[in-house]
Amino acid sequence: MKIKGSTNIVGLIGHPVEHSFSPPMHNAAFDALNMDYAYVAFDVDPLNLKSAIEGAKALDIKGLNVTIPHKIEVMQCLDELDEVAGLIGAVNTIDIKNLKGYNTDGIGAIRAIEEVSSIKNKDVVVAGAGGASRAISFYLAKFKANSITILNRNVDKAENLASDILDSNLISEARSDSISEINKYLNDSDILVDTTPVGMHPHINDEPIATADNMHEDLVVFDAVYNPNETVLLSEAIKANAKPVYGIKMLLYQGAESFKIWTGRDAPIDVMEKALNEFLGR
Ligand code: ATR
Repeated sequence: MKIKGSTNIVGLIGHPVEHSFSPPMHNAAFDALNMDYAYVAFDVDPLNLKSAIEGAKALDIKGLNVTIPHKIEVMQCLDELDEVAGLIGAVNTIDIKNLKGYNTDGIGAIRAIEEVSSIKNKDVVVAGAGGASRAISFYLAKFKANSITILNRNVDKAENLASDILDSNLISEARSDSISEINKYLNDSDILVDTTPVGMHPHINDEPIATADNMHEDLVVFDAVYNPNETVLLSEAIKANAKPVYGIKMLLYQGAESFKIWTGRDAPIDVMEKALNEFLGR
């Protein structure tokens, strides 16, 4: 890539940002399509968030990804919010020209799952009730899942999320329960989404939230954890002959959606996937 006087800048704001996979993934895409763009990472102290967004606009930066700890606070610096991002209450992508915020984390998970199965009319169990669960669950509702069951250790949090989802009127069936009851639900479900950190490096031998004997062959099992690639939960899915969906796909597709928002072009998925795998040493 050659940086020129005409080069368009996109990037990431977070704190910290130096270990992000996004710069290599996006720059590989720009290179492959011969686009005059460069993606850089900016470490922004929370105290400077507002001036960073104003500065990005003044510098004619085209778009930004937003990561921890700015995803919620950044909404106050924007003029407009995508409908689902507003419902989620968190933004990970900004189109700087019109200061509009989006949440491509949730849609990234949807695209990953849809490589294997459509969401429409499906009964979905979501484990966890934190930020990732919220982003994915509203998109499951937007993509017309039949029902969503949120399971969490802290049942109050699951209940609150289920109630927010119902209030959105995107879906008519959302319920909650303790994650310890998961086996009660899997038999009648089409898709299991795990947003908990169970099995994440270095705790790769954690007890999985569900085991093969409770999974059926048509169950789609998505794990948002991407390190390791095959988590304990996905190993169980494979054992059960169910359909595993790997967490790395969510990273890939959230990036692809952001790319499209900034450039108006379809992202070169294969190129981005290769760069992501290289970055992760796979
Ligand atoms: P993220 O932004 O990745 O969603 P988060 O907001 O911290 O992260 O949410 C983590 C979720 O994983 C929570 O729902 C948490 O459950 P609690 O609300 O009960 O804390 C869940 N979680 C974390 N560790 C877990 C574990 N060992 N077993 C089951 N659930 C776990």
